[in-house]
Amino acid sequence: MAISIRPLNPEFAGEVAGVDCRKPLDPEEVAAIEAGMDRYAVLVFHDQKLTDEQQLAFTRHFGALESYATQGHIRRPQEQRLGPGIADFSNLDKDGNILSAEDRLWFFKLGDRLWHSDSSFRPIPAKYSLLSGRVVPSWGADTEFADMRAAYDALDPRTKAEVEDLVCEHSLIYSRAAIGFTDLTPEETLAFKPVRQRLVRTHPVTGRKSLFLASHAGAIHGWTIPEARMFLNELTEHATQDEFVYRHKWRVGDLVMWDNRQTMHRGRRFDPGEVRDVRRTTLAGDAPTIEQAA
Ligand SMILES: [Fe+2]
Repeated sequence: MAISIRPLNPEFAGEVAGVDCRKPLDPEEVAAIEAGMDRYAVLVFHDQKLTDEQQLAFTRHFGALESYATQGHIRRPQEQRLGPGIADFSNLDKDGNILSAEDRLWFFKLGDRLWHSDSSFRPIPAKYSLLSGRVVPSWGADTEFADMRAAYDALDPRTKAEVEDLVCEHSLIYSRAAIGFTDLTPEETLAFKPVRQRLVRTHPVTGRKSLFLASHAGAIHGWTIPEARMFLNELTEHATQDEFVYRHKWRVGDLVMWDNRQTMHRGRRFDPGEVRDVRRTTLAGDAPTIEQAA
């Protein structure tokens, strides 16, 4: 059966049929999915009951995994529940128990409910993320995606000219401070040193421009902090209007793949007494945005 992709609503998300993500893909299948990613930016695969190994193997069809010496997280290696290459976005500790609502790890995770693009706080931000729904709570926990190409296109001409060459500073420090989590160790503060990212990115295949925003962005070069924060807030409000947002309601076995270069996303609330086990693999980006011509 050939791969087919049906547009969802809004049409920057697509639902994929005709692929078993547990099995090796042939080059035509890889090309079809990549073309789908370039067109849609978010792809949904249903009924994919993956093991971690299968998720890693599927991910590697599309490039190299993101790997950094420093964690983009406050969870220490000895606290990891999962093996290398798989990021734990569950609300579980290493023994599989639900995290305490007073655990600083839980506070840190709450920051993912702000709009962001994965790894925008890294010098080379991520290309694709793939999130696999293993255990899904009975209520809430949707993931929302915003189409940053459509958001860019809808800017007025004056704002387009204004953002064209702006450079922002991104750090986990900014996104965590936004929810009042400032309790970082000196090592964490050092590891989360801000990086520079262009505000306007150009997609390497389609040539479409998009706004590269995230709650990790906390400064604009050459601007005062209040002016920068206010402008970033306004752009984020603009970019996350209903018409640009696809809401994913999770079913067990869903695999959702998104292009961080063209979208932002956020998690939504769920009952913290219920288990949510979602696991992410992440593909490395090609180059710093700062070197890329807009
Ligand atoms: Fe994320």
